[in-house]
Amino acid sequence: MQREPVQIVLASSLSEREPAIARWITSGRGSLAFILGDEECRHRLLADGINWDRVLIAYCSEGAIGYAAFKHHRRGPFSPGPAPFVREFGWLGGSLRYGLFMISECREWYYGFYLYGLRVRKVARRQGVASALLQAVCEQALGCGQEKVELEVQAKNLAARTFYAHHGFVSIRTMSWLSRLVPIPTVINLRRTLSPPSRVPSK
Ligand SMILES: CC(C)(COP(=O)(O)OP(=O)(O)OC[C@H]1O[C@@H](n2cnc3c(N)ncnc32)[C@H](O)[C@@H]1OP(=O)(O)O)[C@@H](O)C(=O)NCCC(=O)NCCS
Repeated sequence: MQREPVQIVLASSLSEREPAIARWITSGRGSLAFILGDEECRHRLLADGINWDRVLIAYCSEGAIGYAAFKHHRRGPFSPGPAPFVREFGWLGGSLRYGLFMISECREWYYGFYLYGLRVRKVARRQGVASALLQAVCEQALGCGQEKVELEVQAKNLAARTFYAHHGFVSIRTMSWLSRLVPIPTVINLRRTLSPPSRVPSK
C-alpha cells in the first residue's frame, strides 16, 4: 500500500485543537480505571488539564491519526486540579482518587524522559505512523538534553512490545510487584539509549 506522508506536530503549536483529540488522549490510562473510571469519566477528569506541550500529533490528509504523549521535568500530558475529581466523586472519594492519581504520576519521577502514551488509529496502523511519532519523541528527548527514552508497556501487549523491540528498546525490569499491590496489569519497563546527532566538524 502507498504510504501517505505524515506530519508530526507539537500540539501546543496549533492555534486550534479539535475537541475529539482531547477525548482521544484522555481515553488512555485505562490501566488506572480503578482510580479514574471509564473513558467518559477520564475525559471529564482530565480534559481541562491537558499540557499540550507534552503531546505530539500525527496528521495525514484525513486528519489526526496518532498521538504520542511524553513526560519530562515532572511535567506530563495531564495536570488536572482536584476540582473535577471532587465534582465527580464527592469531597472524600474525589480527594482520595485525586491523591492516588498524583501518587501514580509521582511514581514516574525517576524516568528522565518518559513516553507516557502512544496510539495510532486502527485504520492507519502498520504504515509507519507510530515509528514517525517515536522518532519525533526521541528528537524531543535529545532537544531537552536527555539521552534515553523510557516507558512502561503492559506485558500482554505483544504488538506494542514487538514495535518497541523493532525500535531498539530493551527490557529493564518487569514490575509484577505493583500489580500485587494495586489492581493494574503487569508492566515491563523498557529503555532506549539515544545517540545524539553527530556534529559536522567546523573547518
Ligand atoms: C503499537 C502501535 C502504536 C504501533 O503503531 P503502528 O503505526 O502500526 O506502527 P508502525 O507501522 O510504525 O510499525 C513499525 C514496526 O513495528 C512492528 N509492529 C507494529 N505493530 C505490530 C503488530 N501489531 N504486530 C507485530 N509487529 C508490529 C513491526 O515490525 C512494524 O514494521 P512493519 O510494519 O514494517 O512490519 C499501534 O498498534 C497502537 O496504537 N496500538 C494500540 C495502542 C498501544 O498499544 N500503544 C502502546 C502502548 S505502550
